Amino acid sequence: MAYTISKLTDYSAAALERASAELFSALGDEASTVKNEGDWKIFRDRWMARKNGVLTQINDLWLKAAPKEAKREVGLRVNLIKEQVEQQVADAKVRYQIPELPISSATSEISETNLRRDAIGKAGIIDITLPGIRRPIGAEHPVVKTTNEMVRVFQRLGYSVAEGPVVETDYYNFESLNFPPNHPARDTQDTLFIAGQQAKPQRERLLLRTHTSPVQIRTMEKMRPPLRIVIPGTVHRNDPLDASHSPMFHQIEGLAVDTNITFGDLKGTLDHAMKEFFGSSVKTSFRPSFFPFTEPSAEMFVSCFICGGSGRRGTDPCRPCKQTGWIEILGCGMVDPNVFEFVKDNGYDPRKVSGFAFGMGADRIALLKYGVDDIQLFFQGDVRFLRQWA
Ligand code: DAH
Repeated sequence: MAYTISKLTDYSAAALERASAELFSALGDEASTVKNEGDWKIFRDRWMARKNGVLTQINDLWLKAAPKEAKREVGLRVNLIKEQVEQQVADAKVRYQIPELPISSATSEISETNLRRDAIGKAGIIDITLPGIRRPIGAEHPVVKTTNEMVRVFQRLGYSVAEGPVVETDYYNFESLNFPPNHPARDTQDTLFIAGQQAKPQRERLLLRTHTSPVQIRTMEKMRPPLRIVIPGTVHRNDPLDASHSPMFHQIEGLAVDTNITFGDLKGTLDHAMKEFFGSSVKTSFRPSFFPFTEPSAEMFVSCFICGGSGRRGTDPCRPCKQTGWIEILGCGMVDPNVFEFVKDNGYDPRKVSGFAFGMGADRIALLKYGVDDIQLFFQGDVRFLRQWA
C-alpha cells in the first residue's frame, strides 16, 4: 500500500524517529522503482511538488501543526528529510539514465561514487565533491634527458641552441659541408633519399639528414660571427636495426667561430664539457681522424667512466670500453676553410675567422650513461622500460 503521511500526535524523539524511518523506507522503495523519465517525473512530483507533494504535506502536518515546544526538534527532522528527498530524486535520475549501472547502489559507497563519476560524462552532471582523476606523471625520455643535460653544459659556456629541418637538401647535408658531388665520403653516411627527386638539380634533392652538421651552415647563413651554437636533433641513416644501431637516432652538434679560435680552444672546451657531464675525474684523448668539413679532424675519447679507465671491473673485463679504458664519444675538428667559403658573404672570410666543430651521438651516450644494452629499448615505447626514469 502506498505510503501516506499521517498527522503526528506524539512529538517525543522516539516517535519522531519512528515516523522518519517509515518515511525513509517508503522513499527508498519508491526511488528503486524509477525506470524511465516518466516514472521519475511522477516520483519527483509525488515527493517534491509544491502542491501536495510529500514534503509540503510534512511541512503542514508535522511542522506547522507542532506545538511550540516541539517546533525546533521537528524543524530539524523536516530539514533532514528534505535533503534526503532531494538527494534520492537526483540519484534516481542518474540511475535510469545509465541503465548498465546497478539499480541500487545505496549499499556500497564505492559503487555510488562510480555511478556519479560516470554520470559526469554521460548525463552532464558534475559532482564537484568527487575526488579528481589522477593522471600519471610522465618521465623525460632518457635520450631527451641526456640531450638536455649536454645542451645545458654548453649553454653555461655561453652557447645558444640552434635547430634545423630533418628533411634536408643535398646542398646543406653534403655539398656545403665540403662533400663534393660523387665524393666517396658521402658513402659513409648511408643516406635515406626522398623518392622522386631525380628531375631536380642534385643540390636541391631532398633526403633525411644524416647528421646535424647542416645546421652549422644554415645558422652561419643567418647569423654573423662570432658564433657559438649547440645543435640537438634527430638524424636518419640506412642502418639495419641491432643493439647499437637504429635508422633514427639523435646527435648533438657544436660550432664556435670567432677570430683566432685554435685547436687549443677546441680541446679546452670539450675537456671541460666532458668533466661537467661525466664527472671531474674523466680524462679526454684526441686521436686523428677525417671529416670533410673539418681540417684537422679528430675523434675524442673519454676515459671509461664505468671502469675508471682500468679496462676491468673487478676480475671481469669492462665491456663498454672493450677493455681499452677509453670510450669514443665524438668527432671534432677545426672548421675547414672550404666550408667558410659557402658563407663568406655573411662575414665568414676564412682568412679572418676560424672555428671548431664537434658532433656526438646522444643515444650512444645515453646507453653508456644508463647502462642500457640495447638501443631499440629507447624507441619501442614500452612504458615499463620508460618508467624507470620517472
Ligand atoms: N657529422 C659527423 C657524423 O655524423 C660528426 C661530426 C664530426 C660533426 C666532426 C662535427 C665534426 O661537427 O666537426 O659522423
